[in-house]
Amino acid sequence: MIQPIGILDSGAGGLTIAKEIVNLLPFEDIIYFGDNLYCPYGDKTIEEIRNLSARLVKYFIGQNCKLVVVACNTATVAGIDYLRSKFDIPLVGVVPVVKTAANLTKTNTFGVIATKFTIESNYQKELIRKFAPDKRVINQPCPGIVELIEKNNIKKNEIEIEGLLRKYLTPLLKEKIDVLALGCTHYALVRNLIQKITGPGIHILDSGEAVACQVKRVLTNNNQLNGLREPAYKFYCSSSSENFGKMVKTIFKSDKIVIEKINP
Ligand code: DGL
Repeated sequence: MIQPIGILDSGAGGLTIAKEIVNLLPFEDIIYFGDNLYCPYGDKTIEEIRNLSARLVKYFIGQNCKLVVVACNTATVAGIDYLRSKFDIPLVGVVPVVKTAANLTKTNTFGVIATKFTIESNYQKELIRKFAPDKRVINQPCPGIVELIEKNNIKKNEIEIEGLLRKYLTPLLKEKIDVLALGCTHYALVRNLIQKITGPGIHILDSGEAVACQVKRVLTNNNQLNGLREPAYKFYCSSSSENFGKMVKTIFKSDKIVIEKINP
């Protein structure tokens, strides 16, 4: 019996992770859930974020998933340990790639942009203490960016998104960072705009590939990787599906995709 991989995020951000998983593991079925009714997670309390993500993990277990990817930095730092203690299913989370950024920087100064929740979390502080104790890490929360990405077609909101990003990134550039870690999966959707503002000299890192590799490792260890077959993809969201659906179709470049609004 084929078991899908469940992938959750507060909205469309985790699609960037889903895409990497599909590229690396082309024979796997996926069920994606964008919880856009409750987006952004980043300004909720730790209890709210934990409860929202727990209900989605429960939903994926009910759908017979073999693994769940928490494709949201905010949900991961808020509650991956909590979710692991509550559920038996293998869970893969996503956190800012502080270790890779620390290894890559030549100026000993790198930036991390993420939600306010992620930046202020103990999880993020611990990552820096463990992997970048001798580096200058400039943490920058970017409130409003996730909302703008979810609100409308990115192209239509581009000027507003670029303006806000410029405001957040200017202080980082003044600090002479040479590496920038995207600590929110939504930001990978506007990576081109970010690179346009930073210029080509700054190395931008997201977590997509690392997460996909970790999913592959876990499934390989559990002997659960599928062999050659045609995969099926389902995309769900909890609020209006119009903009979400457009993003799914743009990223997955297919019209033969199931997109539905449900409330688990
Ligand atoms: N994509 C989520 C993350 O990686 C967005 C957070 C939010 O909904 O505020 O943190």
